[in-house]
Amino acid sequence: MSEHLSSNDLLPIGQVAARAGVPVSTVRYYETLGLIPAVRSNGNVRLFPRHVLRRIALIQVSVRYGISLAEVAELLKDLPDSRPPTRAEWSAISATWGEHLARQQAVLERMQAELTGCIGCGCLSQTRCAVVNSDDRLRSDGSGPRRVLEP
Ligand code: FES
Repeated sequence: MSEHLSSNDLLPIGQVAARAGVPVSTVRYYETLGLIPAVRSNGNVRLFPRHVLRRIALIQVSVRYGISLAEVAELLKDLPDSRPPTRAEWSAISATWGEHLARQQAVLERMQAELTGCIGCGCLSQTRCAVVNSDDRLRSDGSGPRRVLEP
């Protein structure tokens, strides 16, 4: 291996886990879900191209901000396994991710705005509930905090 590290270097699972800051079981799980590519050595050892570290980082941040693994899988499904994704490919993901984060942010902002008022959860415990959710009429729109979630 040359002195300089390359995004195509093949790394053993322990090294990937250590660099990504996640347990080995998490790396194995992401591979099982098809979120990250792996290859087998002649000795049948699982090896990962170094560029999977970027995917693992994105998955970790996504999950931390409420994006489910299924949504992440949908975001990553068109990325190539055999080479590092290009800037354009990441830009496409960034655009979709941006839309999702904007929706999340809108929900959080509504929650913050309504925290002292009625969030439409059915508790009827706030003075404002009698005005905007009398007899819990918002339950007909569905479950959860109806005045906070997306219409
Ligand atoms: S805050 Fe729960 S129903 Fe109004």
